[in-house]
Amino acid sequence: MTESSPATPTCLPDRNALVLESARLLLRPYRPVDGRMYAAMHAENRAHLREFLPDVLGHMRTAEDAEAQIQRMDRQWRAGEALIFGAWERGSASYVGEVYLANADWHVPSIEIGYFVVAGRTGQGFASEAGGTVIRFAFEFLRVSRIDLQCTADNQASARVAERLGFLLEGRQRLRHRKRDSSVVDRLWYGLLRSEWEQAMNPGPAPA
Ligand SMILES: CC(C)(COP(=O)(O)OP(=O)(O)OC[C@H]1O[C@@H](n2cnc3c(N)ncnc32)[C@H](O)[C@@H]1OP(=O)(O)O)[C@@H](O)C(=O)NCCC(=O)NCCS
Repeated sequence: MTESSPATPTCLPDRNALVLESARLLLRPYRPVDGRMYAAMHAENRAHLREFLPDVLGHMRTAEDAEAQIQRMDRQWRAGEALIFGAWERGSASYVGEVYLANADWHVPSIEIGYFVVAGRTGQGFASEAGGTVIRFAFEFLRVSRIDLQCTADNQASARVAERLGFLLEGRQRLRHRKRDSSVVDRLWYGLLRSEWEQAMNPGPAPA
């Protein structure tokens, strides 16, 4: 660490004005008006997401609970602690899932990505598309030099998303995560470097 290196990024975009777009999706930070939808989504997806989300979200019941959670997200965003995006399908405007950036080390700078897709919309490439859009934001706007991604070794769908997004498996921690059913599983750590991402975005001319 050097004395001049930043503890937080010098400038985070105004979350109220930020919208990211991909071929099928719009991604933006949640707004208070999303509270009712967010509470209903968590109620409908409790079993699907229980393994992956903190208890505080499992306890969310009402639109007011969700609005309070969205206000927390606002504070976390401004502190550079967590940048959380909801993802909506452009055509139908239906909600498909969430991508977050968190656990940053702004001295590197690096940040971790995570995601979920609601039950009923999985297997359509939405996690890969939304993840790729937020990765672009992290490299181009936050100017991070690497992105971390972790998942449990039994989460094949998440591991496939990581690999499809270009992450390299960097490590496997044995028996490192206790699941809610009390079983203990390995944890996989993936990484994506800026140079690898730039190469994948601009592969250059194919060899003659
Ligand atoms: C993991 C998750 C985000 C994947 O979302 P998704 O939109 O279905 O992902 P995509 O469609 O972009 O890609 C999924 C890939 O995994 C594969 N896949 C999907 N479900 C799978 C499963 N149950 N087992 C193995 N592979 C699976 C798909 O075939 C696809 O592989 P491909 O790249 O070879 O085509 C989603 O299942 C989810 O939200 N799960 C619960 C929360 C979670 O696990 N979050 C990640 C925590 S680390």
